[in-house]
Amino acid sequence: MVLALTATGPVLAQPAAQRLALCGACHGADGNSQLPQIPSLAGQPRVFIENQLVLIREGMRDIPQMKGTLEGVSDEEIGALARHYAAQAPGRPPAARDAALFARGESLSQETRCGICHLPNYVGREQMPRLAGQREDYLLHSMRMFKGNQAVGRDPIMGASLQGLTDDDLKAISHYLSRLAPM
Ligand code: HEC
Ligand code: HEC
Repeated sequence: MVLALTATGPVLAQPAAQRLALCGACHGADGNSQLPQIPSLAGQPRVFIENQLVLIREGMRDIPQMKGTLEGVSDEEIGALARHYAAQAPGRPPAARDAALFARGESLSQETRCGICHLPNYVGREQMPRLAGQREDYLLHSMRMFKGNQAVGRDPIMGASLQGLTDDDLKAISHYLSRLAPM
């Protein structure tokens, strides 16, 4: 799903400072989330962030925790928010690894060809999010939502991509992807 913002109007160089403080309280001051089930935004493709922000603002992607946070935020500021987070450096992935789980996740990701869309090193592009180095709990949570058809307002392509995978498979994939360097 590709959404375009209106191209007219002034380009905002920076989002409002108060807004960044609000977003940072959940997503981390530097865009790297320290909180369970809250995704990191740092280094995500600009187009992905911008699309999601529009969907969230319009109430199409329903995120109870973000209710109201984007109310009345202009297209220009959404563009600035997307550029801001896309330009931030993703943090280092956690060093601790379960070798067996990691290996299983690696082969599952290759067999199911996630890299066709998310790129072979899983850094994402355009409307496809970066998975490398994303929080393990968030990857698992979002894949469970896709698989259970509960991901309201999200691209149905993902539910289809996860067909045939078990919950244990999703756990292995989440572990693997979260340990990859997000370069
Ligand atoms: C109270 C906590 C909270 C605040 C404040 C908040 N968010 Fe979120 N945000 C979340 C949660 C939780 C999710 C993931 C929800 C889900 O998919 O289940 C999310 C998801 C997102 C996503 C989608 C990311 C992805 O990988 O799918 C973007 C983009 C985002 N937030 C940007 C922002 C911005 C920009 C702000 C400030 C205007 C903000 N958020 C404020 C909690 C918050
Ligand atoms: C045909 C293209 C395609 C394939 C193949 C694909 N994805 Fe995706 N994936 C997407 C798109 C597009 C999105 C963004 C969904 C949205 O906009 O709501 C996404 C979103 C995700 C998310 C949510 C991340 C976030 O930050 O919210 C996860 C996790 C994910 N994919 C994992 C996978 C895994 C694991 C595989 C392989 C089993 C896979 N994807 C295969 C296109 C694909």
